[in-house]
Amino acid sequence: MLGRLNHVAIAVKDAEKAAKIYGAAFGAEISAAVPLPDHGVITVFVNLPNTKVEFLQPLGETSPIAKFLERNADGGIHHLCYEVADIIATRDLLIAEGARVLGDGQPKIGAHGKPVLFLHPKDFSGALVEIEQA
Ligand code: CO
Repeated sequence: MLGRLNHVAIAVKDAEKAAKIYGAAFGAEISAAVPLPDHGVITVFVNLPNTKVEFLQPLGETSPIAKFLERNADGGIHHLCYEVADIIATRDLLIAEGARVLGDGQPKIGAHGKPVLFLHPKDFSGALVEIEQA
């Protein structure tokens, strides 16, 4: 039921600057910066053969990563994203197992145009988890 690791997200103040060294030093493929107003972030992806690194930069005054960056001024790992085949079925199983889904529990469209949900870090060993319908 749990699929591939889709990405590891790192919150930073400047996503393009953060991604740059991956392109320059590692020769990795870097995406363009994409603003996601619904999520309050700008994303830049570093594409690796087996997964991606997603750099997140705050967008707007109510960005959900603003507080994280207050506590982690140099940036830091923000969440892990796993792929699932059916996000609604997975959500319902997780809730039945006692996990907490953030927000109103309804999937939003994420950075890849696919439905995503976020799960409470306290239920996942201190790590914020995103699930994305593959
Ligand atoms: Co993500």
